[in-house]
Amino acid sequence: MKDFIFRMPAKIRFGVGISSNIADICSEFGARKAFIVTDSMIIKTNILDPIKESFEKAGMPYEIYSDIVPDPAIETVDAIAEVLRNSGADIVVAVGGGSPIDAAKSICMLQTNEGSIREYLFGGSRTVTNPSMTLLCVPTTAGSGSEMTAAAVITDNQNRIKLSVTHDYLVPKIALIDPLLHVGMPAFITATTGIDALTHAVEAYVSLNASPVSDAMALQAMRIIGKNLRTAVANGSDLEARSNMAIASSMAATAFFNGGLGVVHGIAQSMGGVAHVAHGVANSLILPYAMERNVVGNLEKFKEIAVALGENVDGLSLREAADKAPSAVFKLARDSRIPLKLKEVGVTRDHFPDILKGTMAYRLLAVNPCKLQEKDVMEILEKAFE
Ligand SMILES: [Fe+2]
Repeated sequence: MKDFIFRMPAKIRFGVGISSNIADICSEFGARKAFIVTDSMIIKTNILDPIKESFEKAGMPYEIYSDIVPDPAIETVDAIAEVLRNSGADIVVAVGGGSPIDAAKSICMLQTNEGSIREYLFGGSRTVTNPSMTLLCVPTTAGSGSEMTAAAVITDNQNRIKLSVTHDYLVPKIALIDPLLHVGMPAFITATTGIDALTHAVEAYVSLNASPVSDAMALQAMRIIGKNLRTAVANGSDLEARSNMAIASSMAATAFFNGGLGVVHGIAQSMGGVAHVAHGVANSLILPYAMERNVVGNLEKFKEIAVALGENVDGLSLREAADKAPSAVFKLARDSRIPLKLKEVGVTRDHFPDILKGTMAYRLLAVNPCKLQEKDVMEILEKAFE
């Protein structure tokens, strides 16, 4: 066994209805005013109600910033950091999916580190040196896992690319997992974010940087997602399925926080910048095709993935059993009513060269179980196209 480090990232506090206690949890950090970061969709629902009521009951002032759009841009992040600076708040509460959480991680870091977020993104001129303002994350999807990790993905619209800022100081203090907030999530978002969580687990599990501890987190996350995603999509008010998906997402994120990701996220991140395909949708479309390509990199582990996803591999050869893993994901995607081809989501072949360029520059391609060349990535894109 090779040497490894395993870090438990954010502290999880799980509870059905726990978001009603958020003011007390903020008080534990000595906070006096909260700055809530959320998106333009959530503000139209009743998701924020228990959170607002909690602050009102506790007499803690709060301010809401709700203009986050998917894939937050550099300029947006810099502007919100300024709003936060002038707000007098001393704690940030992010409520939403990956976009509000990533924006919140970035603005908390910019309260204590000078400059623009642009300078801290991958390849930038500055590194994070000071601890961020306190951040609590309340995910409203079971997918991005951003509530558990040290990275924020930000879009550089000038260069049509999504880049990450990564530092331990970006890890939120608490991931507050309240499945009650997931009940109203539309079936399509449930499906695509759920496959994003599955992608985290699969990529971390077969990563060259996996360890026995990240494997345990990843495998269990896969088992839970395999058993619960269909129910969560088909019947969104099933609280048990929502609870299971919510915690599996945080476990899968803990696995990839340590084990890393691979070509699916390389393509998805690049495709997000080039063709504005939502992260969960991009992962859903690419995952099974990338698994078909990666199977030969680790037959044993792909066999375990097939088993974790409920496939019967009795009497099969190792290769046959491993091949059941991508087919299990195809079935899950089909049952979840996710688009199966890139051409269905506005990607054209004209996008391929730019998607390819971004993918090959993706840092975590180095831990993909097979060493992939440009032609291999093009092959995955072609198979996923039509
Ligand atoms: Fe992801």
